[in-house]
Amino acid sequence: MTQHLAAPATPDSATRTAWWRDAVIYQVYPRSFADGNGDGMGDLQGIRARLPHLRDLGVDAVWLSPFYASPQADAGYDVADYRAVDPMFGTLLDADALLRDAHDLGLRVIVDLVPNHSSDRHDWFRRALGDGPGSPLRDRYHFRPGKGTDGELPPNDWESVFGGPAWTRTTDPDGTPGDWYLHLFAPEQPDFNWEHPAVRDEFRSVLRFWLDMGADGFRVDVAHGLVKAAGLPDIGHHDQLRLLGNDTMPFFDQDGVHEIYRSWRKVLAEYAGDRILVAEAWTPTVERTAHYVRPDEMHQAFNFQYLSTHWDAAELRAVIDGSLAAMRPVGAPATWVLSNHDVTRHTTRFANPPGLGTQLRTPGDRALGLRRARAASLLMLALPGSAYLYQGEELGLPDVTDLPDEARQDPSFHRAEGQDGFRDGCRVPIPWTVEGPSYGFGTGGSWLPQPAGWGELSVQAQTGDPASTLELYRAALRVRREQPGLGAGDALEWNAAPDGVLSFRRESFVCTANTTGAAVRLPVPGRMLLASGPVRVAGDEVELPADTTAWWAV
Ligand code: NOJ
Repeated sequence: MTQHLAAPATPDSATRTAWWRDAVIYQVYPRSFADGNGDGMGDLQGIRARLPHLRDLGVDAVWLSPFYASPQADAGYDVADYRAVDPMFGTLLDADALLRDAHDLGLRVIVDLVPNHSSDRHDWFRRALGDGPGSPLRDRYHFRPGKGTDGELPPNDWESVFGGPAWTRTTDPDGTPGDWYLHLFAPEQPDFNWEHPAVRDEFRSVLRFWLDMGADGFRVDVAHGLVKAAGLPDIGHHDQLRLLGNDTMPFFDQDGVHEIYRSWRKVLAEYAGDRILVAEAWTPTVERTAHYVRPDEMHQAFNFQYLSTHWDAAELRAVIDGSLAAMRPVGAPATWVLSNHDVTRHTTRFANPPGLGTQLRTPGDRALGLRRARAASLLMLALPGSAYLYQGEELGLPDVTDLPDEARQDPSFHRAEGQDGFRDGCRVPIPWTVEGPSYGFGTGGSWLPQPAGWGELSVQAQTGDPASTLELYRAALRVRREQPGLGAGDALEWNAAPDGVLSFRRESFVCTANTTGAAVRLPVPGRMLLASGPVRVAGDEVELPADTTAWWAV
């Protein structure tokens, strides 16, 4: 029995073959990728020097997390100048050289855009504070008088995603307590008021700045947050963090955001070369996510429902079908992602019992986690659409779960008093060599401590070892380029399979994934192309070990 999900009518044959529809996009987290000047912090020169690794890996594009001028209160997601490179990462000339080198190697480059909030050191915000109440610059942010007899209470009950109230009280130039300002994240990240035309103009200009530099697109931070419900209404309870992404909030996923993305799409259309917008939008459902990728808005949106799915065949099948079905009416490709700089790496998530969320502090069973992670990655790379990889996942890196508290820099860790905010665990600088002061990350140290034995997981250690995770990813991306049925399109045909096993066909390609803890026997689907573990074929039967995915040509 098979269930066929028909390919839709093609709305526009030219865009149906655009590069981004099946691109594999690799996230570089600049602080932790490679350090070119030996100061312990990754930088643009370091990234440039390591671009050949990405070409050899076989990805299509690189997404760079922010490298702009920033006081680094939230690792660069607090931007003080959207048109400048932070000296810690290099200069604009380095950015220009990086874009050119990447293009010469056939890699596209997507930069991060952070439009929901600026740094509190952004010129507009500094002047808004310094000029005092009544400053017209305050209208570009959300300043409000407090409640209570002396304005001592925040203007509403909104909570920061990083914990605590989403409002901070200002001090007027004469030293008296003044108005409050809104920050959905850290106090150092004041939210822009997107009702203000200057804010809208400014960001269209920032888009042009980076498009002129040659950027191939933008990953849009907190794309669901820019517009707030009129009047900033109270939510009425204090369980807001738990509801984020699951419920409608007056500060997230408001319909007004879409007009902004329509105007940005027009800016991109002025440029040659198929540039793209990618939404980081945490919405309650994939159907709501699809709104961001309507034909006149963004091109892709991250699939966080997929990232949050457990290693379980039934759950995976439901989210795969749901994602494809949600994207089909708007003609956007589905996207898939397992790890990024905000969540515990999937190697460690799958090493732990399900249901613990996406930020963990426990290493779990590492061998189990790696086996599942390799299988999950191969499954993801077989799905129709575009896939995102996070630096180091090609090495099978686990999270570093035992970082000392004093080394941690995630602002949410400190705001949540150590009970949450474990994002540093996936941000530890990656190992390039077996030995060396920071395992080839740089010639000096590393801004977060790397664990002992990190070098055994390095690019150097894994290169040429056919059993390594690095060679598995390289082979997978090679096959993905060559094998008909992998990549673009959205048709997928499910084959009958035992409980806990997924089997689907796309053209002349079949993927089988065993998510259970026991080996299963299946009829051999065809010629085996690749497997995440030791698959045994005997005659017409294949034994697929526990937590193993295999690819087949049929
Ligand atoms: C999402 C980013 O990925 C995360 O790292 C950051 O803390 C928040 N947005 C705020 O910008």
